[in-house]
Amino acid sequence: MSSELICIADFAKEARQKLSPEGWGYYASAAIGETTAQENCEAYKKWRFRPGLLKNVSDVDMSTTVLGSNLPFPICIAPTAHHAIGCAEGEVATAKAAESLGAGMALSLFSNFTMEEVAQKSPNCIRWCHVQIVQNPDVTEHYMKRAEKAGFTGFIVTIDRAVLGKRCYKYKDGERFTFIPKHPCPNLRESIKHSMPNMNEIEAYQQVSNSTTEWDSIDWLKSRTKLPVAVKGVLTREMALKAIEHKVDGIIVSNHGGRQLDGTFATIDALPEVVKAVNGRCDVYLDGGIRKGTDIAKAIALGAKAVFVGRPILWGLACGGTEGVQKVLEILRDELMNTMQLLGVRSLQELQTTPNLVVHESYLFSKL
Ligand code: FNR
Repeated sequence: MSSELICIADFAKEARQKLSPEGWGYYASAAIGETTAQENCEAYKKWRFRPGLLKNVSDVDMSTTVLGSNLPFPICIAPTAHHAIGCAEGEVATAKAAESLGAGMALSLFSNFTMEEVAQKSPNCIRWCHVQIVQNPDVTEHYMKRAEKAGFTGFIVTIDRAVLGKRCYKYKDGERFTFIPKHPCPNLRESIKHSMPNMNEIEAYQQVSNSTTEWDSIDWLKSRTKLPVAVKGVLTREMALKAIEHKVDGIIVSNHGGRQLDGTFATIDALPEVVKAVNGRCDVYLDGGIRKGTDIAKAIALGAKAVFVGRPILWGLACGGTEGVQKVLEILRDELMNTMQLLGVRSLQELQTTPNLVVHESYLFSKL
């Protein structure tokens, strides 16, 4: 792997060179006009730091907990499909990187390796299992039992995928990218095979779009496990209150990296409203557009307990497999540490509780 890769933008550039146009297109693409995907990144610029100075910041503690697991720093790997596009070892490579640094990883239902294999190859990785409530509940139940047996310690339920967002394929040269034949989803297939043995893979995949799912399915899901359950895809006060009513253990403020509903809020802009509505009743995390340690510091200051990272992990895989993902995580971790020291804070709690450490740019003008 090139030693020239020193920030996440370098990884994006290099990954674009290394991946096939179809592979790059699948990872990069977002819904319809791609407005939300772009805004997820841009919106961080509108939030500014008001630092404190002359504090002893020689010893900074970045530790936190996510769904009950202790992490040395507040950076987790978001559930993303098809890691084998990035490198042949796929999710196994990603999990090894997470394990080596103590980062948490959410494994996608659409992974190219089964949860059992990922667990076996990285036994000490802190791992959560991504769930979608598919059309046949037996499939979901079987899948959850497998995850418990394989040592996953929590579930992350995606709630913003009633149907697949219409993707913009502008990155692609030529053929429409059909990933099912090239990159199977054995993780999903194992549970479908068990519950619906006669179904072929294409039909099985269609099981996943379940436009009938409602909030009571969260109650059903919670009744099937003792592990913590977080919902992923909350963007508003109303959704946050619903999630609390259905007794979730965590909320991930997310718009699916702009791949589902285009034209909604950037996640960093949605975060303060959700944090206020939750008012400490469950953990709040955020994903979307995290490309720098400063983005993470802003998310923590605005109330997130940790962040999840999507595309940069896939770029890391494409650039250098396990080593590439390690480097991506290290860059983000070290940039966060540096930002905290320059802000004059020594813990995530201090970052979150110091008043007005991060303000919206409109604050500056309201004070004039
Ligand atoms: C995703 N995401 C996603 N989310 C989910 O709940 N289940 C999934 O299987 C996937 N798959 C997936 C594939 C790819 C290629 C991407 C880019 C994203 C969304 C993901 O979990 C996360 O919400 C976003 O990726 C976060 O935004 P950034 O970090 O990519 O900007």
